[in-house]
Amino acid sequence: MNRSIGVLDSGVGGLTVARELMRQLPHEQIIYVGDTLRCPYGPRPEEEIRQFTWEMIDFLVAQDVKLIVIACNTATAVVLKEARQKLSIPIIGVIDPGARAAVKVTRTKRIGVIGTKMTIESNSYEKALRHVEGQVVVESLACPPFVPLVESSQTTGAYVERVVANTLKPLLAYDMDTLILGCTHYPLLAEVIGRVIGPNVQLISSGDETALEVGALLDYNGITAAHDTVPEHVYHATGDTRSFERIASDWLNQPIQAKRLVLGT
Ligand code: SIN
Repeated sequence: MNRSIGVLDSGVGGLTVARELMRQLPHEQIIYVGDTLRCPYGPRPEEEIRQFTWEMIDFLVAQDVKLIVIACNTATAVVLKEARQKLSIPIIGVIDPGARAAVKVTRTKRIGVIGTKMTIESNSYEKALRHVEGQVVVESLACPPFVPLVESSQTTGAYVERVVANTLKPLLAYDMDTLILGCTHYPLLAEVIGRVIGPNVQLISSGDETALEVGALLDYNGITAAHDTVPEHVYHATGDTRSFERIASDWLNQPIQAKRLVLGT
């Protein structure tokens, strides 16, 4: 079974999920699509997010992928349900795995969630958390400045510390022991977020749990890659490929080459 797994995101954030997939499932081959040209999705109207996400899904289906990971919380909130109804291959989002991972580690059941405007307004995390654990108390905060920081390769330094500290201020008074990084871009800011939010709060990113679920789905469907497969991952970006390659090479710790993809014509 040498078909690839398709991973899509509004930009570079889905690489945080791709890295975990590569770590846990080293024989699986990935076709990654980042819609860097039209990122961020978070502030966009729902209809636009739906259209852009379907363009990536249709591209991946045309590449004959065996399973799709929507590695973007915003796109997951808007499209996952309908995509599951329409596609004949398995498709997985990042919100349910993120919620499950948070419930596994919280002791106080007081959980914070940060994400894009669309993800937070959709209440998707709150619903997913309550589905797993009815007793959780959830406080959510939209953090619109974070995705543009990551997409422009700004993840450290005094300016980033200041933006993160100002944005997270409303959450600092909230007594929680777990904070969900409810946007796949945010793990690239995890160090700064951790410093601002303090050592007593566990940061949760959904990549780990999502990769676990992908592994289980592959097994269940009998579509796991052969153990002698040496994967050759393929990366597509709709925007500037050099900037994508720089961020991807840093994050994945290997030289990455990306192909320019034109969507929406
Ligand atoms: C965005 O494009 O605004 C962020 C992607 C995400 O929600 O994970």
